Amino acid sequence: MKETQFLSKEYSQALKQGKFTWESPSNIALIKYWGKRENQIPENPSISFTLDVCKTITTLSFSKKNKNSNHFSFDLFFDGKPKEDFKPKIQTFFKRIESYLPFLNDYHFIIETSNSFPHSSGIASSASGMSALALCLVSIEKLLDPEMTNEYFTRKASFLARLGSGSACRSIEGDLVVWGEHDEIEGSSDLFGVKYSDQVHDNFKNFQDTILLVDKGEKQVSSSVGHNLMHGHPFAKKRFEQANTNLSKMVEILKSGNLDSFIEVVESEALSLHAMMMTSLPYFILMKPNTLEIINKIWKFRKETGFHVGFTLDAGANVHVLYPESESEKIYKFIKNELVAYCQNGQYICDKIGKGAKLLR
Ligand code: DP6
Repeated sequence: MKETQFLSKEYSQALKQGKFTWESPSNIALIKYWGKRENQIPENPSISFTLDVCKTITTLSFSKKNKNSNHFSFDLFFDGKPKEDFKPKIQTFFKRIESYLPFLNDYHFIIETSNSFPHSSGIASSASGMSALALCLVSIEKLLDPEMTNEYFTRKASFLARLGSGSACRSIEGDLVVWGEHDEIEGSSDLFGVKYSDQVHDNFKNFQDTILLVDKGEKQVSSSVGHNLMHGHPFAKKRFEQANTNLSKMVEILKSGNLDSFIEVVESEALSLHAMMMTSLPYFILMKPNTLEIINKIWKFRKETGFHVGFTLDAGANVHVLYPESESEKIYKFIKNELVAYCQNGQYICDKIGKGAKLLR
């Protein structure tokens, strides 16, 4: 599919006003997206687990404007309160998607949004937030164009979400989503995420992700800045090759259910991501001392017990502890007894692999 396929045709219906509510999850990448080209095109393919508990709920109300104007008109509420500092991000998003949703200028919008995870937990809300908003917008388009197929609906929601935040395009569907072209994954695209439809071993059913909130503060370096630092990065070319190779390995792992290899690839990806941060110019470190304490504890426990527990990191200090459901009793006990002490205010979130976004109203 090409970008032009997401341009809208003439709408057959007229609409005065309405409202949609979507719930959209966060996701955690196993193979990381780090580095992008113009128009939110990723430098390498990535694959993620869709999460279940961490999600954003967004209601989008729309009413036809009385007068035509050439600027976007919207109000934004977060947890019921006006949120001015989110507005520039939405403004940029609208600008990027305007040519794909020609009705954007015809309506006044009220965006009401809230997250299931604690505010300022350091959990990235851009993936769940942008995907929920994209889904609301495509729902409006479907009213204007009732012939839109479900497949096109999902694709377009992912396509638009990507223009809001790259990783958001992996939050529309579950349980595993690939974004970025890869030779061995049919239908994979740089433009949108696709549900991973190859064989997945039962070991990965209901896979657990306990998110340890190590540092809930504002990130010192945003993902957008981090991605940009991959331009001219001395190891960029090798890193993009590595991600492609690791995705090939992951295809095999998902098929075979080999948990040792799974942990090896996933942990190597997390550390490579952070190695890219440490070796860019300017260089930066997002891990905290407790991030390393947790990693070392996990390695020690794994060595001593043989349980299949591993970790991944996103662009921050928090640790996602990953493990199969079949071993969850013992591993959860270990987390509670030995890892939670390293969390800020003892906070953590018990999440697991999820099924994707849901229309609530
Ligand atoms: C480390 O999707 O937040 O979580 O496209 O600039 O919005 P933008 O970046 P974003 O980057 C996510 C990076 C990551 C890895 C991943 O999710 O694949």
